[in-house]
Amino acid sequence: MIIVFLGPPGSGKGTQARQLSEKLKLPHIGTGNILRREVQAASTLGLKVKDVMNSGNLVPDADILELMTNRINESDCKSGFILDGFPRTTKQAKSLDEILEKSNRQIKRVFNIKVSDAILIERLSGRRTCKQCGTNYHIINAPAKKNKDQCDKCGSELYQRADDKVATIKQRLKVYEEQTASLIYFYKQQDKLIDIRGESSIDRVFKEIEGNVSRQ
Ligand code: AP5
Repeated sequence: MIIVFLGPPGSGKGTQARQLSEKLKLPHIGTGNILRREVQAASTLGLKVKDVMNSGNLVPDADILELMTNRINESDCKSGFILDGFPRTTKQAKSLDEILEKSNRQIKRVFNIKVSDAILIERLSGRRTCKQCGTNYHIINAPAKKNKDQCDKCGSELYQRADDKVATIKQRLKVYEEQTASLIYFYKQQDKLIDIRGESSIDRVFKEIEGNVSRQ
């Protein structure tokens, strides 16, 4: 089963994709997480994309498509996978369809998580992320339970992402409207899109998603 999470920055794609991946035992592929690991490792790709990411703009399609073609052709993706943050442009969406067609596969559902801009800004500016495993927390809505500065899962330090400063968040929201929001129409036309009310609690949002995954 191949599932895509679509939605503006901070809508909860990563939070929900991670939970669904644990439930369905399918790999969670978050392009932002993969890119941040490359930046941390100071790889050739990481050095190339660091400034673009920190400014809130999109990494070039060619780099993303190379990365993702390799990733989804890995053996753990044979039974399916959950995409979070990809595709993000029409070019990426069309290329994904082509890649999947080659192995007779197709996307089953696209969950479009809807959240107002005011809530997105509040969520992102309060987000803290684990340096090691990438788990997300929120200083008020979802704080770490054991120690506010440490990840409950792996014990590593939590930090604020460079692109979670208010000015950069606003740029990311603008980029989303200009380059990604049109994918809503793209997947609606393919009859794969399901709108999810993303402003309720994390658990309620997950229940709504779960219900729609099992529906035929
Ligand atoms: P990426 O990491 O994908 O960032 P994003 O899409 O901007 O999404 P976020 O991770 O910020 O938010 P999210 O929707 O996952 O929300 P989350 O679950 O964390 O990309 C970063 C950058 O990489 C891009 O700007 C770009 O430069 C580059 N990039 C990545 N993919 C690319 C691509 N395909 N093409 C080109 N460039 C690419 O939740 C946010 C916060 O809210 C958390 O604190 C969470 O705890 C809290 N929260 C979540 N749900 C709820 C809820 N229901 N109620 C209350 N709080 C909640």
